[in-house]
Amino acid sequence: MTSNPGRLRGTLIGCGFFAENHLNAWRMIEEVELVAVCDRDRAKAEAAARRFGIPRVYEDAEAMLVEERPDFVDIATTLPSHRPLVELAARQRVAAICQKPFAAGLEDARAMVRACAAAGVPLMVHENFRWQQPLLAVRAALDEGWAGTPFFGRVMFRHGFDIITNQPYLALDERYIIMDVGLHLLDVARFLFGEANRLYCRTARIDQRLRGEDTATMLLDHANGMTSVIELSTATRTDPEPFPETLLRIEGTEGTIELLQGYRLVLTGPGRREERSVDAPLLPWAERPWHVVQDSVLAIQRHWVDCLREGREPATSGADNLRTLELTFGAYDSAESGQAVTMP
Ligand SMILES: NC(=O)c1ccc[n+]([C@@H]2O[C@H](COP(=O)([O-])OP(=O)(O)OC[C@H]3O[C@@H](n4cnc5c(N)ncnc54)[C@H](O)[C@@H]3O)[C@@H](O)[C@H]2O)c1
Repeated sequence: MTSNPGRLRGTLIGCGFFAENHLNAWRMIEEVELVAVCDRDRAKAEAAARRFGIPRVYEDAEAMLVEERPDFVDIATTLPSHRPLVELAARQRVAAICQKPFAAGLEDARAMVRACAAAGVPLMVHENFRWQQPLLAVRAALDEGWAGTPFFGRVMFRHGFDIITNQPYLALDERYIIMDVGLHLLDVARFLFGEANRLYCRTARIDQRLRGEDTATMLLDHANGMTSVIELSTATRTDPEPFPETLLRIEGTEGTIELLQGYRLVLTGPGRREERSVDAPLLPWAERPWHVVQDSVLAIQRHWVDCLREGREPATSGADNLRTLELTFGAYDSAESGQAVTMP
């Protein structure tokens, strides 16, 4: 296969709605050359290859990995195909990125992690929220010690934006908002507050056209003694529309860190106040209001390349994502039973 020496030869499976962001981001990463794309709907793969100047197109993922022998495969398909495709990558000894939700259950998730570990191939879940600039800025403020020792955290994603038009499959899922966005916020809670060992969750379905829950409220006990509250809703009617901003409040022994609508990071404490603008840059291919998400796609894909080149484990490796999924499925168990659940 022709390729530029020194560049990683990448491939991508699934040329749908969100893959557009992956493809735009890969094009910005000089160390990577996408050599082929695959979609079982060939017309979609051909359209992506044309738009992004990718030389080869496949309908069959196995044929692509066998013929191309790439350095990595980026799996940007929806949930049902994740386990077969990750296991295929492991069999073919190809490093893999897998979109979220990584798995529909812990058994599948553990099997994928085991398969890649046994094959000695790196595996990263495309868990991009913790790579959003505003959330990285919150992490930096915590590391600066602004809050002292944090004891309370609140992570909020409440909006009324129509996401079903772009992702119609979400309306058909029995599990909706926790599987789609809750896992991002649980991962953010782990990233900012550390591991959680107990969780209580309540859910409701406000929009009766959906099959699954569209609001959820969770209470988490963290191993370090912190308490956090995670709030999700796609049924919230307000103006200005906050989508897709994740808002935050962290209280600590020395001060308070707030991420407010409009990408305003407000840091306060007795006799001190500082405000920072923490909006993400508008990349040439990005569009408001998604630009923060799009920038995070570029950031996580750069991280993947750095990790591959340096032989490091990605921050959101498959093994790391097991902790996020334990909380995700724990939230559903708690909502169903009405009881708090303890993490394994
Ligand atoms: N991280 C985020 O911010 C974010 C945002 C939106 C969507 N997503 C995730 O991205 C994933 C994809 O979502 P989408 O909206 O782009 O879906 P989509 O349905 O628009 O695209 C998926 C594509 O994958 C193809 N495909 C499925 N199985 C395949 C297989 N076995 N082989 C080849 N092609 C196959 C389909 O034909 C389709 O074109 C979902 O898991 C979703 O949760 C993440």
